[in-house]
Amino acid sequence: MSNLIKEKDQFSLVDQLAGESELSRGDLKTLIDTRNDNVAEYLFEKAREVRHAVYGRDIFIRGLVEFTNYCKNDCYYCGIRKSNLKADRYRLTPEQILDCCAQGYELGFRTFVLQGGEDPHYTDDLMTLIVTNIKSTFPDCAVTLSLGERSKESYLRFFKAGADRYLLRHETRNEIHYASLHPAAMSLRDRLRCLSDLRDIGYQVGCGFMVGSPGQTTDCLVDDLMFIKEFGPHMVGIGPFIPHQDTPLSGQPAGTLELTVFLLGIIRLLEPRVLLPATTALGTISPTGRELGVMAGANVVMPNLSPVGVRKKYLLYDNKICTGDEAAECRFCIQRRMANIGYHIAISRGDHAALQFQTSRESQVQAALAG
Ligand code: 5AD
Ligand code: FES
Repeated sequence: MSNLIKEKDQFSLVDQLAGESELSRGDLKTLIDTRNDNVAEYLFEKAREVRHAVYGRDIFIRGLVEFTNYCKNDCYYCGIRKSNLKADRYRLTPEQILDCCAQGYELGFRTFVLQGGEDPHYTDDLMTLIVTNIKSTFPDCAVTLSLGERSKESYLRFFKAGADRYLLRHETRNEIHYASLHPAAMSLRDRLRCLSDLRDIGYQVGCGFMVGSPGQTTDCLVDDLMFIKEFGPHMVGIGPFIPHQDTPLSGQPAGTLELTVFLLGIIRLLEPRVLLPATTALGTISPTGRELGVMAGANVVMPNLSPVGVRKKYLLYDNKICTGDEAAECRFCIQRRMANIGYHIAISRGDHAALQFQTSRESQVQAALAG
């Protein structure tokens, strides 16, 4: 009996979240701590309804170019941390990066994500050159940067060169937890400063966190969710923590598929229009992880465009998928997987719904003025 009442309460929490796009700290905590399969199924149903209303059955694809695995940071969880002397380091030249984009363009990608460690080799001048080249060669494409923390001036230069979006996961919104995952030289304060700089400049901004990272409690997750609600990012990247053998956290258990997809469902309802990827890490802990992510409310996938020769070197965690596959293989594999669950890949930039609306409204206004 008490179980039934409990379940009824949980269903009404999901209804409230779906109806109001918010929930109190205490209710979020209850929803997470007392979740079960039935409630999860109900949550996913609501999350899909919301995403279908905003984005239909389109899946946006992003071509990921992992252009350097050098990193000056030493995050305890990350396989390309500077203290990992076993990592086989590489850098792509601007020409190699442009080649990846050209191949991606042929495959239907209209967003390129340049992701790398924090590598001082890529100065502001060099990054500006790379972004300028991509934008002038592919003017109909969006460029997303994911290169970690930089000064506001640097972010502004890249934006002026044409970069559209920036991904910088906050990793955890809890100070103590942040300090347990990063060396003293890094701080949550700096991370949050970067995120607000990026937003102030005008980027479409993505934050995010790992699920099940060592020391993460439900309270930490609630902190993360409340932060997302307060910050209102355009994108949220979450995936399970997966230990990497040559890091200080090698012996720790991985985050679970079950909790990750549950949180994807919650995030879709908290921020109905958010661009929400089913991440490679999710595909790594389960063979159907990305499909289950989409069924829980995700609407983006990020197949790899990096040259096959460097794929095995960009290892943030163990057993990463797709490290032996050509860009075209991943592209069509994703298409098949999405078709199997009733979704299709959109050949478009895949901007946030607020900006798509703005663009179409702007063109209507222009047409009205012209006519
Ligand atoms: N497991 C899962 N995700 C990881 N990341 C880094 N290391 C790991 C790991 N071991 C994530 C971080 C980072 C993003 C690029 O990859 O959240 O922001
Ligand atoms: Fe570079 Fe973690 S060590 S992002």
